Amino acid sequence: MRHPLDPLSAVEQEQVVSHAKTAWKLDHRHIFSMVQLEEPTKIQILNWKSDEDFERVARVTIWNMATATVSEGLISVDGVVKEWKEIPGAKSPVSVIESTIALEVARKDQSVIDALKRRGINDPQSIHMEAWPIGAQIPKHLADGRRLIWTPMWHKVTADGNFYAHPISGLHAIVDIDAHKVVDLEDKEDIPIPQTPGPYRASQTGGTVELKPLMIHQPDGPSFTVDDWKINWERWQFRIGFDQREGLVIHDVQFNDNGKMRRIAHRLSIAELVIPYGDPSQGAYRKNAFDTGEYGLGNFTNSLVLGCDCLGEIYYLDAAVTEGDGTVRTIKNAICMHEEDFGILWKHVDVDGHTEVRRARRFVASSIVTVNNYEYGYFWYFYQDGSIEFEAKLTGIVLTLADHPGADHPSATEIEPGLFAPYHQHILCARLDLDIDGTENSVVEVESFAHPRGEKNPYGGAYETRETTLKSESGAGRLMDVMKSRYWKVINPNRKNHMNQPVGYKLVPGHNTFPLALEDSVLGKRAAFMYKHLWVTRNAQHERYPAGDYPFQHDGGAGIPEWIAADRDIENEDVVVWYVFGTNHIPRIEDWPVMPVERAGFHLKPSGFFARSPAMDVAPSE
Ligand code: NI
Repeated sequence: MRHPLDPLSAVEQEQVVSHAKTAWKLDHRHIFSMVQLEEPTKIQILNWKSDEDFERVARVTIWNMATATVSEGLISVDGVVKEWKEIPGAKSPVSVIESTIALEVARKDQSVIDALKRRGINDPQSIHMEAWPIGAQIPKHLADGRRLIWTPMWHKVTADGNFYAHPISGLHAIVDIDAHKVVDLEDKEDIPIPQTPGPYRASQTGGTVELKPLMIHQPDGPSFTVDDWKINWERWQFRIGFDQREGLVIHDVQFNDNGKMRRIAHRLSIAELVIPYGDPSQGAYRKNAFDTGEYGLGNFTNSLVLGCDCLGEIYYLDAAVTEGDGTVRTIKNAICMHEEDFGILWKHVDVDGHTEVRRARRFVASSIVTVNNYEYGYFWYFYQDGSIEFEAKLTGIVLTLADHPGADHPSATEIEPGLFAPYHQHILCARLDLDIDGTENSVVEVESFAHPRGEKNPYGGAYETRETTLKSESGAGRLMDVMKSRYWKVINPNRKNHMNQPVGYKLVPGHNTFPLALEDSVLGKRAAFMYKHLWVTRNAQHERYPAGDYPFQHDGGAGIPEWIAADRDIENEDVVVWYVFGTNHIPRIEDWPVMPVERAGFHLKPSGFFARSPAMDVAPSE
């Protein structure tokens, strides 16, 4: 019996593809851009009984190359068509198969071959090309609505070398991905290809720094149980999900509070990831990819390796994605689950010397994607103090371009002579559908402040907090403010704790950044969500992606800015919290040749949700 929120299995996706081809008369002109589980509504899930069959429905996004149109269909795995509609003006994300074809076309194009020859490269197979959306102004003569990608290039000087050490400057093909044609070649500069290698394979680096073995043994097995996609660990219960667009998803988070299952979240995901580049030179300004919305992040999920990606008693889940041509690919070991020791949970030494200390354990669900040069790890942690943390781990190879050695190049770091790593930001947006003890919640902003010296502040050190309930969507776009120690709480105003305060969870921002791209830039308009750290919207089933459903070549304004124009009430309603966070990456020399992991994330901590610290119930270790 499948749970309504279980990801579509490979078999189900195959059924969906087969039924969709028949129902909608799909042929070689049609691309399967996305096949996703059409998640049931919250009400349907809450009312669902586990012995009841639930119709499994897929949302299928189809790109018709011949008519340049996107259609979305809803079809059950049994082939019952629920809906079929065209989405006017939309352009579908670029599927892996389309990228592959576009790159083959560019590689075989005579103008590309000739330009490479002028640079002394006679073998086009020794070129690494990537297919990037044009994330900035589309050249005027090409801006007629066709779907275009452009192709930064690097020279593979040796077969197994790091080609990112050898960017080819100023040479890009622009490819019409539907016509399978190079429509323009940009070949403007003749900057030499940097030649300093950037080796990183073990066989090349000769790394010899070794430590003694560290073994993680759980002789009685791990402390969690896996029932298909349902996880029970410690007092937590939740479901793992997987989506072709968002990748790893967490559903239906509950905590056993002294025998009572209490609901905390309905759905947690990272709904967008955009990487604005701040270098105006040589096409770098175009590298503003929406890895989630323009490609489908789940497509790039790694098959994880025991002992390397994950250590200890591991349980893996496989995932499946539908390729552009309708074939279904299984990703083995896509999601890793395990427990980690996490230092001490709490400790106190009494005056008489009596000591109480508890070790902390955390549960981790994670997956890692590789999108061209970069790796992104998505890690969800569950803790014994009732808190949840998300951490993105950023690693991989910084994007590179070439300029003259020592050139005045103010928006990039020169990491080897003539090899530059442009400044950029990684901006993520979490979609947090929290349901604190029920669906009706409010969001409260909490700030600390001091009164001027006087009756309320006689010694100068007094401070208080001020709580402001966010009333409607238009006023709920908020920024972090360290001067006020600002944070946000999601509360249930209808449920009180033993101190008669509404139960809640606070969102604790971590390290963060603010976009540098101007709001009226092409990217600024398309990723308008990134100009606030927090948004709150009324929950709507299909408001899923903060830059809209189809950011590829979109004019901007879709997603959050569009939805909040309705200015819906958000007080004591079913709300969704969007938290925008990320890093401003000024590449360091030490980020080369492979960047050590950088982290960005946030914490969700109980705030008046429990009657005391739930960590008190943890038994001491032997
Ligand atoms: Ni970076």
